[in-house]
Amino acid sequence: MIQTEDKKDIITLAIETSCDETSVSILRNGREVLTNIIATQIEQHQKFGGVVPEVASRKHIESINQVIELALEEAGMGFSDITHVGVTYGPGLVGALLVGLSAAKAIAYAREIPLNGVNHIEGHIYANFIDHKELEPPFVCLIVSGGHSHLVYMKDYGEYEILGRTRDDAAGEAFDKVARALGLNYPGGPEIDKLSKLGDKSAISFPKAYLEEGSYDFSFSGLKSAVLNYLNSERMKGSEINVANVAAAFQAAVIEILTEKTVKCALEKGVKQVVLAGGVAANSGLRSLLMSECEKNGIDLRYPSLKLCTDNAAMIGCVAYYDYIRGLRSDMHLNAVPSLKIGDRY
Ligand code: KG4
Ligand code: ZN
Repeated sequence: MIQTEDKKDIITLAIETSCDETSVSILRNGREVLTNIIATQIEQHQKFGGVVPEVASRKHIESINQVIELALEEAGMGFSDITHVGVTYGPGLVGALLVGLSAAKAIAYAREIPLNGVNHIEGHIYANFIDHKELEPPFVCLIVSGGHSHLVYMKDYGEYEILGRTRDDAAGEAFDKVARALGLNYPGGPEIDKLSKLGDKSAISFPKAYLEEGSYDFSFSGLKSAVLNYLNSERMKGSEINVANVAAAFQAAVIEILTEKTVKCALEKGVKQVVLAGGVAANSGLRSLLMSECEKNGIDLRYPSLKLCTDNAAMIGCVAYYDYIRGLRSDMHLNAVPSLKIGDRY
């Protein structure tokens, strides 16, 4: 475990605005969350069936100062108590990222305190460090969100080996697109999760793409197309569609592939710890299937609480803290990097 040389507490104010949540968190020494405010814009985007970048940027601008003030108030602190600033600088929507970045830079500049730019995907992994105080790398991590699906070997803080990634749609994206075709609300993942519990997953058989032998990559676009084709052909036949069965069969196909590849990867790497992260980590079917497969294979599985699965600033503050104590610093030139890759630094 990394130790801080200085005994003084590091109080990080972290900002996350990469997509459709304006979130500000204050943490003590990286893992103790004093407050984690999340102002969601979901309602604003629901009528469009997905996130509209322009609307997202505007809403972040309207909310950011209030969310910062609320976070300080909830933590019982003022700006003078903050000793460090963390902010997401990618990946994400450029206009949305710039709102958080500007606020973070302004605080760091005015207070003359250090700033750390954070990779959003790393943030999802670190959400686990907040909920599981004893968790330390190395481990294999499955990160499944609206924009990303990765299997990563995390050797140490900030050190990643990418073992697999999606070749087309991210897992969450597939959930959202299938949900839209089923006439469900955005975001579709939680809707499909709920409906799946009422459906029969074996009523329909959708294809699962395992790709080449030994590959840890994923592909969800074939599965998504198979669901869309099924819906079209049933509608053309005039048959009534059992939406719960479609949801259950689709979800089963996704979570079975994710689980099989993750467990196989951990066994082949000889790793006894697996960590689940990202918005799709909130999926109840994925949590329970992965848990039972990990238990069968003597692997310890960790996943974050529901609030820390989806986008939030606490996870960003946790990365910023560990980057800070490893001596990394960002400066006032820090810019948004919309397609930032895991492990890359700018
Ligand atoms: O991590 P996240 O909040 O944002 C990104 O960084 O992308 O993930 C959002 C994604 C959405 O696609 C949403 O549908 C999915 O996570 N999601 C779920 C569930 N809750 C959120 N997918 C499946 N089951 C859920 N319970
Ligand atoms: Zn995310």
